[in-house]
Amino acid sequence: MTITKFLPGKSNGKLQTQSVSYQSPSNIALIKYWGKHGLQIPKNPSISFTLNNCRTTTILNWEERTNHKEDYELKVILDGKHKPGFEPKIHQFFGRVVEYLPFVRDYAFTIDTTNSFPHSSGIASSASGFSALALCLMEMERELNPQMSQKTFDQKASFIARLGSGSGCRSLKGPLVVWGEHPEIKGSSDIYGVSYPYAVHEVFDNYQDAILLVDQGEKQVSSTVGHNLMHNHAYAPSRFNQAIENLSSLIPVLENGDLDQFVNIVESEALTLHAMMLTSNPYFILMKPNTLKIIEELWQYRRETKIPVCFTLDAGANVHVLFPQNNREDVQDFVKSELSSYCQDNRYIFDNVGDGALKL
Ligand code: PMV
Repeated sequence: MTITKFLPGKSNGKLQTQSVSYQSPSNIALIKYWGKHGLQIPKNPSISFTLNNCRTTTILNWEERTNHKEDYELKVILDGKHKPGFEPKIHQFFGRVVEYLPFVRDYAFTIDTTNSFPHSSGIASSASGFSALALCLMEMERELNPQMSQKTFDQKASFIARLGSGSGCRSLKGPLVVWGEHPEIKGSSDIYGVSYPYAVHEVFDNYQDAILLVDQGEKQVSSTVGHNLMHNHAYAPSRFNQAIENLSSLIPVLENGDLDQFVNIVESEALTLHAMMLTSNPYFILMKPNTLKIIEELWQYRRETKIPVCFTLDAGANVHVLFPQNNREDVQDFVKSELSSYCQDNRYIFDNVGDGALKL
């Protein structure tokens, strides 16, 4: 389906520049996206905190093409090394965006990218990576169409990122981004992420996320396969409705700062995501024994201290531990002294909620 609103405007001809650079963060969903149709259209709305320290930096270089053998000419460099293995994914991405950014056919690109988080830490770099690449491509588009409004730029950049990585469309802005149409969230859309438009209580300012790296290896089942298993899943229709209801319940919680309710919604979402995996056919498990150990320890710590700390999970074994800024010292000590022993090589990352991508 062609989205006419993002078709290219009249171009001013050739680009004068040859390079642009963006840094984009990762994000962690509170209400999970799991299940899609068409070209990365979500089956339910989701909302995420944008992170701050886990980032991808991308320098996009280009020159006019001389070789027209392939549809697109590109080279991917990761941490200074040529990685031909990543190139088919970018070719596929260019194939999806060419209708909206036709200049991708006219230039030879070098995509030079680095991640702030350790390589193969089990933290997905596709959301931050496609967000940064989409923003770089949109700067080229802006040079060709300088009359484009900032609003169109922002929406189209998120739209383009979505075509590379669904959840990547939530990695451009911060601190809270909604993706997927929701009847109570004005401006929400299935085709791009929008900044959460309503009041947020100050307890969520600079919210903390300690990412516990339980398993740093390659996932046994990719997100793509997992999303596809939601087709014909016995519980899919109720799950999609539940996500809509959970997002409705989160709106007053974000406003009034009721952390007991917040903890309940966020943990239920994480466990439901994994319940969908357990009940897919074929079924699969991405949690590891230490994922459950961490959850049990965290629940005990919460019971004993009354600190409103909670966990969430993405499609993997790592645990995100979320807590307010004013509990930072206590919870970070708890992570270092108790939880780190369940992490592979004792590795964890202290992050916090951030404001989104930066042009460098
Ligand atoms: O964007 P994908 O296809 O990697 O899917 C991400 C899915 C979850 O991380 C599990 C949930 C979410 O909303 O981010």
